[in-house]
Amino acid sequence: MGEYRVTSESQTINNRKKLIEVALPLPEINDASAYDKMPGIGPHPKGIHHWWARLPLPTARAVLFASVVDDPSSHPDKFPTEEAQNTERERLFDIVRELMQKKLHEHPEVYAKARAEMLKHVDGTLPPVLDPFSGGGSIPLEAARLGFDAHAADLNPIAVLLNKCNLELVPRWLDQQPVNPKVRQNVLRKTGWRGAGGLAEDVRYYGRLVRERATEKIGHLYPKVKLPKEYGGRETNVIAWLWARTIQCPNPACSARAPLVRSFWLCRKKPRYMHAKPMLKGKDVSFVICKDGEPEKETTSGKGARCLFCGQTISKAQVREMATRHGVNEVPLAVVADVGRGRIYLPSDAVICPEIDRPEVQEIEQDMTNDRRWFSPPLYGLPRFSDIFTSRQLTAMVTLSDLIKDIHRDVLRDAKEAGLASAGAEDYRKAVITCLSLVFDRCLRFNDALAHWASSNEKVMDVFGLQAIPMAWDFAEANILGDSVGAWNTCSDYVADCIEVIGKSAGNNGKGRQIDAASSWNDPRAFLVSTDPPYYDNIGYAALSDFFYVWLRRTIGNLYPDLFKTILVPKAPELTAAPERFEGNKEKAKEHFESGFRKAFSALREKMDLRFPLTVYYAFKQEDEKAGDDGDSEVSKNGVDRTTGWETLLDALLTSGFQITATWPVRASQKWRMVARGTNALASYIVLACRARPSDALQCTRRDFMNQLKKELPAALKHLQQGNIAPVDLAQAAIGPGMAIFSRYAKVMESSGRPMTVRTALNLINQALDEVLAEQEAEFDADTRWALAWFDQHGVDEGEFGVAETLSRAKNTAVNGLVQAGIISARGGKVRLVKRDELPADWDPTADKRLTVWEATQHLIRALDKQGEIGAAELLSNLGGGLGENARELSYRLYKICERKGWSSEALAYNSLVLVWPELTRLATSQVGKMRQGELEF
Ligand SMILES: C[S@@+](CC[C@H](N)C(=O)[O-])C[C@H]1O[C@@H](n2cnc3c(N)ncnc32)[C@H](O)[C@@H]1O
Ligand SMILES: [Zn+2]
Repeated sequence: MGEYRVTSESQTINNRKKLIEVALPLPEINDASAYDKMPGIGPHPKGIHHWWARLPLPTARAVLFASVVDDPSSHPDKFPTEEAQNTERERLFDIVRELMQKKLHEHPEVYAKARAEMLKHVDGTLPPVLDPFSGGGSIPLEAARLGFDAHAADLNPIAVLLNKCNLELVPRWLDQQPVNPKVRQNVLRKTGWRGAGGLAEDVRYYGRLVRERATEKIGHLYPKVKLPKEYGGRETNVIAWLWARTIQCPNPACSARAPLVRSFWLCRKKPRYMHAKPMLKGKDVSFVICKDGEPEKETTSGKGARCLFCGQTISKAQVREMATRHGVNEVPLAVVADVGRGRIYLPSDAVICPEIDRPEVQEIEQDMTNDRRWFSPPLYGLPRFSDIFTSRQLTAMVTLSDLIKDIHRDVLRDAKEAGLASAGAEDYRKAVITCLSLVFDRCLRFNDALAHWASSNEKVMDVFGLQAIPMAWDFAEANILGDSVGAWNTCSDYVADCIEVIGKSAGNNGKGRQIDAASSWNDPRAFLVSTDPPYYDNIGYAALSDFFYVWLRRTIGNLYPDLFKTILVPKAPELTAAPERFEGNKEKAKEHFESGFRKAFSALREKMDLRFPLTVYYAFKQEDEKAGDDGDSEVSKNGVDRTTGWETLLDALLTSGFQITATWPVRASQKWRMVARGTNALASYIVLACRARPSDALQCTRRDFMNQLKKELPAALKHLQQGNIAPVDLAQAAIGPGMAIFSRYAKVMESSGRPMTVRTALNLINQALDEVLAEQEAEFDADTRWALAWFDQHGVDEGEFGVAETLSRAKNTAVNGLVQAGIISARGGKVRLVKRDELPADWDPTADKRLTVWEATQHLIRALDKQGEIGAAELLSNLGGGLGENARELSYRLYKICERKGWSSEALAYNSLVLVWPELTRLATSQVGKMRQGELEF
């Protein structure tokens, strides 16, 4: 036990089981990951640039740590008993829990402690970490912070650039003074800049300089607005201009330009309500701002549109046709102005904007991908990236791009004057310019004609609410030279703050490289591999990132000639099943993905350091939190069935020569504690731990497999429960140890002579789990065992007395005894379980003559429900540890029954009890402590 024998052509080693292959404190990892995904948690490494479906940092961190430290069962010499192993495991859990605290970057000492622990398990040298699909870079960033040499690879140039920022650019300039003259010439200047503070300060400084220069050049395009008298009549900044796009009405008798608007609300923030009311005059429309009344019904929705002039409904197909044939124009809806502490809405003629010649920006005149599922502007006659900007936006972005390019002279001069040697000054300039280009990209998200006005929080919302570039009919044009969301200044300050965060607890040994994971690339090192690969056609990373790439290439292409050689992001080798790359052929697209995936993972099998499991993330749900995280659908919007997808992944890993040793469902949504049902409530990610399967692995039969499951699952289950896994996640986590057995063999043969499929194996594992949980019953009293069996058959409904009696004989108890125990009520030949709300409120376990685990569990849930955690904790301390622990175990079993029966609210009760367990035990002990103290004082 506790070891995996692994061989490959190059290495033969006896490997120790790692913590991640046995147990994890999953609830704490979930909580921390959910927090990390929340919008509005302040500066965070993710803030330097948008990336689609970034992994939460705490998950990446916990997984790396638990892949390095041995599970105590690997050291029977040091931890000979189950109890000793549990204690040691609990100590390791505590380190993981410490690693899960908020804003960990501010606690380098916690990283250091984790590093010191890991070093004990690897004889003093950490292995290099490789993430071949590193994307936004969560895994390599955490690897570097934990002290590994971090190697980030990706095919996508922007991903590579972001990883270079995290691992190379920022760490290179730690603890460095800013070079800008303002700081240097200030006699009272701050000294001792820590972390990336100096670099961040320079980003702020040169950012301001860019804005000043931009204001000189294009300030006149953003005229101020005169406030109405009741607001003091002064001039103030416009926050945004709101527009509606129009198409020509297909009704020949009308042919007006019909404005398409998703909602006429301007502000819906209690108690303020404001909307734009359309006023028609001949074939023209203008809008007045109204405080009262209901707004006009929207004129466009997912289904189609409606002409404001003649009332005709316009089908989606007609909208597309008219837009393509006659073009789309814009009409002004309203102007939002800044009144210090709030916003007001003014009619568009409150401010006169100059006419603007549309600049030609050759680099941006590139077609968007022809994948119409996610890129819809081309369907409406806007095929190129340049088409999704207004003339003013295009002018502003070109001006900013030029200014960033130009400012390199200033930075270089200042850096030299600040005493940096020539080569160093060159590098520093590159760092600052790169950071400014990230600021630029942040601006892009808000300053395109697809960004919209959110009436609920009165802000410009960026284009990437979804992992797509969808057409927007009404849109908001932010004042890029102002100070609100989307303005250059706001973006530059925010990106600078995020750079500072990256610099905190930063590691100093990392690299970002552009590599096609499916190609044969060489590196003599053996890596600890942890990765979150792309999955079928989930997200079109390459196509989406063209949006930024075309601009980045224009602005910093000369600084990174290798990264920006191609006009658009390289698409062909990208691992995605995108039919549009194969003339619409879905089969070919699928084949491209699957064969590439296998190639990549077979290569990793050769590159991995066999002492550690390779960890792979499978994203069940990839919506980002702000895009809404409550979709329960098992079928993603593009039709990939996630359950089948999961089986396919397991299969792909098995055929690439891996054995699966653990499967951890991680829930990174705020609402995860409320999740009731296993199948409907998908985890955000499953983390799989994999080992290279020996090339000489044996075959076995179905019966061998089942016997092995029965033998090994009970201990595995105990370990999962030690981590207080949520009952809702038990089945998913049990797949790990089950698959470890299945995939240990080259094949499991069915009696038909065919090899067992992954789907069958998964079913058998789930059945075995049920049986093992049923066996845990042996630890419960007879009355509880009777109640369990009854509950399974009848729930809380009535049943026949005779049936109850027969059952009671089988369980070695008696019906009248069960009545006495307060578990059932029996009347008129019928029997049923006592419901929770019928339980005696003044129940005192110490006075109960026939105490059962069943009652204890039901009372705990009721106390939790009625009196909260304190009440439940009080009850728990009266029950005593042993009975309490049994109640927790019973909850797992009851959950599984409810899940099978589809009783979801009952299931939720048991899930919740387990989840608050650590808190209850903590409170219970501290209360006992208090009572003791009280006694003493008395
Ligand atoms: C799921 S994402 C990784 C996200 C990342 N974990 C994060 O936190 O942002 C998958 C990545 O695989 C990359 N990718 C796709 N095909 C690739 C290939 N053939 N070689 C290398 N990387 C590839 C994509 O560019 C994307 O960044
Ligand atoms: Zn019309």
